[in-house]
Amino acid sequence: MTAPQPTKDDRFTFGLWTVGWQARDPFGDATRPALDPVESVHRLAELGAHGVTFHDDDLIPFGSDDDQRTKHVERFKAALEETGLVVPMATTNLFTHPVFKEGALTANDRGVRRYALRKVMRNMDLAAELGARTYVLWGGREGAEVDSAKDLRAALDRYREGIDTLARYSEDRGYGLRFALEPKPNEPRGDIFLPTIGHALAFIATLEHADLVGLNPEVGHEQMAGLNFTHGIAQALWQGKLFHIDLNGQHGIKYDQDLVFGHGDLLSAFATVDLLEHGGPGGGPAYDGPRHFDYKPLRTEDADGVWASAAANMRTYLLLKERAAAFRADPEVQEALAAAQVPELAQPTLADGETHADLLADPSAFEEFDAEAAGARPGGQVRLSQLAVEHLLGAR
Ligand code: GCO
Ligand code: MN
Ligand code: MN
Repeated sequence: MTAPQPTKDDRFTFGLWTVGWQARDPFGDATRPALDPVESVHRLAELGAHGVTFHDDDLIPFGSDDDQRTKHVERFKAALEETGLVVPMATTNLFTHPVFKEGALTANDRGVRRYALRKVMRNMDLAAELGARTYVLWGGREGAEVDSAKDLRAALDRYREGIDTLARYSEDRGYGLRFALEPKPNEPRGDIFLPTIGHALAFIATLEHADLVGLNPEVGHEQMAGLNFTHGIAQALWQGKLFHIDLNGQHGIKYDQDLVFGHGDLLSAFATVDLLEHGGPGGGPAYDGPRHFDYKPLRTEDADGVWASAAANMRTYLLLKERAAAFRADPEVQEALAAAQVPELAQPTLADGETHADLLADPSAFEEFDAEAAGARPGGQVRLSQLAVEHLLGAR
């Protein structure tokens, strides 16, 4: 089998917090030393990545004074210049410090909400300066464990107010940022607001600046809710709202595993890559943004293991991309798709200009329609599924 090598053209990006995760979990201490963001930039560039993303606190430790802040930013900028890596996305840490223990944009405490907005705005200034196009908002602490301790409807009002304020700020400053909300059902809060892609899409429709706000769905987060990630992003694409994506792996409904992409539900990862790369017009890409990995190198790994796992994300994506291309190019697959009537779904149900009255007047649609024959027609779906498995396994 060939060994695809990632290049900048593949547009692979990583959060500083991913490779930089020291593997501290609720039960155990860190197993790896802290990583200098400058080293991460160099290592990721060597591996073939296109960009890096960050939370404010990943780059500038919380509590840094202005001088320290400037130093951190200048070192980072120099590393970007040396390597040619870009920063397509940035985000805010609104979850680590105890001040956010009860929420950030939706905290009961109004002072905390105002502080959270200022923290986001400050990092938006830096994001714009570094050329970011997308600003991610993951509301890990926006939620509750005790339903009666939160006015749930007021929380959504405050969430909307917060995001509209930030969108207005970007517009007024001419930053040209687009916001991407990242749904997650739970963890760290018992229940997080906007838990799934569907909830977030419905919420976005109510915003004053709905045009500037879309989604950053994460594979594992939908799967934690037992949902089909590929279906979720297909709807986001259909609504023009797939602004960004967090690729990783997850084994079903349990804690957020943040595994390497493809190291969870591999068939689902195949379908996701197939959609991203072939779900667009004329069978081309459906999504042209960065392929962003938001994963955690396993706690068992040392520093070398961190870089091996970063490479594994990109290699797995490229292998799946190759497999999906082979699947689409296989004449037997095309024939199986036709047999399962897949292309027919693109044909509108009513003819051009046809009305419900015309439909009523068409005996072939009902009176003469052979429901028994249609109900007895073979589906051909297992054949398609097996063809996908065989391509995935390299058997074809
Ligand atoms: C998670 C989340 C986070 C966010 C990131 C951006 O795994 O719970 O994905 O990693 O994506 O913090 O704010
Ligand atoms: Mn996650
Ligand atoms: Mn994420």
